[in-house]
Amino acid sequence: MLYIGIDLGTSAAKFLLVDETGRILNTVSEEYPISYPKPGWSEQEPKDWWNACVRGIPRLLEGADASQVAGIGAAGQMHGLVALDGEDNVIRPAILWNDGRTWRQVDYLNEVIGRSKLSELTANIAFAGFTAPKLLWMRDEEPENFGRISKIMLPKDYINYKLTGVHCCDYSDASGMLLLDVKHRCWSQEMLDICGVNLDMMPKLFESYQVVGNLTRESADSLGLPASVKVVAGAGDNAAAAVGTGTVGSGGCNISVGTSGTIFISSEKFCVDPNNALHSFAHADGGYHLMGCMLSAASCNKWLCEDILRCNDYDMEQRDITSDKLGRCGVYFLPYLMGERSPINDTNARGMFIGMTMDTSRSDMVQAMLEGVAFAIRDSFEVAKSIGVEVKSSRICGGGSKSPLWRQIFANVLNMPLETMMTEQGPGYGGAMLAMVGCGEFDNVSQAAEALVQVSGTIEPDAEIAARYQEKYEKFMQIYPTVRPLFPKLL
Ligand code: XUL
Repeated sequence: MLYIGIDLGTSAAKFLLVDETGRILNTVSEEYPISYPKPGWSEQEPKDWWNACVRGIPRLLEGADASQVAGIGAAGQMHGLVALDGEDNVIRPAILWNDGRTWRQVDYLNEVIGRSKLSELTANIAFAGFTAPKLLWMRDEEPENFGRISKIMLPKDYINYKLTGVHCCDYSDASGMLLLDVKHRCWSQEMLDICGVNLDMMPKLFESYQVVGNLTRESADSLGLPASVKVVAGAGDNAAAAVGTGTVGSGGCNISVGTSGTIFISSEKFCVDPNNALHSFAHADGGYHLMGCMLSAASCNKWLCEDILRCNDYDMEQRDITSDKLGRCGVYFLPYLMGERSPINDTNARGMFIGMTMDTSRSDMVQAMLEGVAFAIRDSFEVAKSIGVEVKSSRICGGGSKSPLWRQIFANVLNMPLETMMTEQGPGYGGAMLAMVGCGEFDNVSQAAEALVQVSGTIEPDAEIAARYQEKYEKFMQIYPTVRPLFPKLL
């Protein structure tokens, strides 16, 4: 049998076709635009996501026997608000995970409702990207649109809805709405009341590997697939990436260097960061996880190389950064190009280079950017350490992890071994694995991970370079607190 994994990302949807042994037979990618209507805002059209599926899946199936496809599992960018009216029309463009417009609503939730109440109800506090503050923003700023809401969904759930006609969500993605009682895996009626929405508007909840339905006749025809294909609930992209890298059960760690940068620590038991700096979410394997998310990771590289330096050749930009230079560059970079989530939770924070001199080169600035992203990921590791979570090694995935130099920088900044996987497509592969579990190829997600996920290599830190980075990190840590009071004044 064949399985399709969908990774509904921020810049593109990636599709992969695997057989029942987990072998990847084909991959296809379809890009779509993102709009930034105001500084700190970010939106996409849900119809662009669906059109990407309608274009991408038939291309994916070229040369394959489509009648052999048994299941589809989607991984999706998290937190985005998709609202439909009573006739299933999308009411407004989706407000994405890295959109910072809701700072007023975040203040209301954290200060007036209160952090401890939110944490008691949902295991989390409010962050600008989360879905609940977006609902409040719509209520405050677009009351007419808010009044038309009949269904609320997350990005990959819009795709599942188009595929099956079922209004569904899985627990991992639902955790990031700030509407789910994460510990008990059910909607929090109190949070729905706070946001002025009712239970009928909310999707039905499933485990990520559960089948939500079959393709509708219409979607089967548009995609060139039989209507017998089963669709599982899928997962938020980070939980799916964790599945795709075998980060399941207790004590696993995965770093994803995509548009966002995340650390994901899996746990069989429910756990919560007492300070709520790390998110406490359900996992796609039926368990839980802690997660830190920085808003701009590989996107800093894309921004600097493509938009500023006007160069698409990332390898060329990194060519002069040899090992002897690691930890020896005096330039620092704050990667807060979209504000920042974990751990500083500051929508006003902005990117910045500091420490340049007349001999600072182009490659010094590229190096500072690569290091700044790694330091910001370390910030979340330090939070995990401070609450007693010891991480001794991690897996790494995502577009940014394809750079051997960046992987080496991460391993040394974090001073821990990092493992790479044979299959690089973390979230999409995780989505396909969830479909395989749903269709009965495996009994559970751990069994699928054990059978399908293979480590391809390990990047060990180098004691000398790691020591230099320790010194640099201590300096880096001082930059943001020093400049923080300036950021709101710059707006
Ligand atoms: C996680 C988060 C991002 C998006 C990226 O909380 O907001 O990692 O899921 O697609």
